[in-house]
Amino acid sequence: MTDAEYRAEALRYRKLVEAGLESIRLGAAHVHPELLKAMFYSVDVGGKRIRPCLLLAVCEALGGKAGDALPFACSLEMIHTYSLIHDDLPAIDNDDMRRGKPSNHRVFGEGMAIFAGCGLLSLAFENMINACIASPDEGRLLAMREIAVRSGAGGMLSGQAADILNEGNTTADPGLLRYIHEHKTADMLTAAVIAGAHIAHADVETLGSLNEYSKQLGLLFQITDDILDVTGDTGLMGKTLGKDEAEGKLTYVRLLGLEGARRAAAEAAEKAAAAVEGMADNGYLTAAVRSILSRSN
Ligand code: IPE
Ligand code: IPE
Ligand code: MG
Ligand code: MG
Ligand code: MG
Repeated sequence: MTDAEYRAEALRYRKLVEAGLESIRLGAAHVHPELLKAMFYSVDVGGKRIRPCLLLAVCEALGGKAGDALPFACSLEMIHTYSLIHDDLPAIDNDDMRRGKPSNHRVFGEGMAIFAGCGLLSLAFENMINACIASPDEGRLLAMREIAVRSGAGGMLSGQAADILNEGNTTADPGLLRYIHEHKTADMLTAAVIAGAHIAHADVETLGSLNEYSKQLGLLFQITDDILDVTGDTGLMGKTLGKDEAEGKLTYVRLLGLEGARRAAAEAAEKAAAAVEGMADNGYLTAAVRSILSRSN
């Protein structure tokens, strides 16, 4: 798949995701209107939608239907958005800008931002459970479990906890840094890839290759985030940069310097591509690696 074909495919998936998110919002008449407004403020300002597009792409690559995977893709994006709302709170990274707009707590206040995050998390699970009830299928349950585990206490949240607990920790510990990146970021990419695979009823061997692929892709994603925090353009990134050093975060740039971080990114990209070399329809997956390695937002 060429880079242009990848962009066209990603756009096709993105349109499905935007429509799916809008229908979830329209179906949430039971949510207090002000809470719903705060929740969907952060969803609607956009974002790259990398995780839900990847989930749909993996499902289709393995012979599944994008329509079957859509409720899970949208739910994962809602959980990711909740993680960003909470990540930006004054008690965590204290960021005023997200996705090119004032962060949730800057618009709605800290209390509502906490509820908006929890609201997106719980509505995501409500939506996945409804999808499982509407069409019972073991693959759907396995997808939901993957998303629960990877986004939950032993997954993304453990990474986020280690991230803030190690602010200002000046001992450069590569194992600890890897723990943080694998959990706070790679776990959510693994959730996307493995959930998509389960919905397509992937076999154990394919799941193994995709696990390694998504772990390396997730590491690559966070290493490039660390690099762009130093070298990126605020307008393109849509968030305040230079924060990692200011907050004493443990990042690949701090551990290895910019050049070392670039080498680590290239290495993760190579490992990700190698993990799916033997897979039949791997075009989107390998193009996603190239796109993340060279990303500017
Ligand atoms: C930001 O994720 C959080 C990290 C894991 C670095 P994205 O860069 O995917 O953010 P959006 O969804 O495009 O805003
Ligand atoms: C955030 O990592 C990861 C999650 C939100 C789970 P960062 O704190 O580096 O993300 P940005 O740079 O604020 O997007
Ligand atoms: Mg953070
Ligand atoms: Mg942050
Ligand atoms: Mg960052």
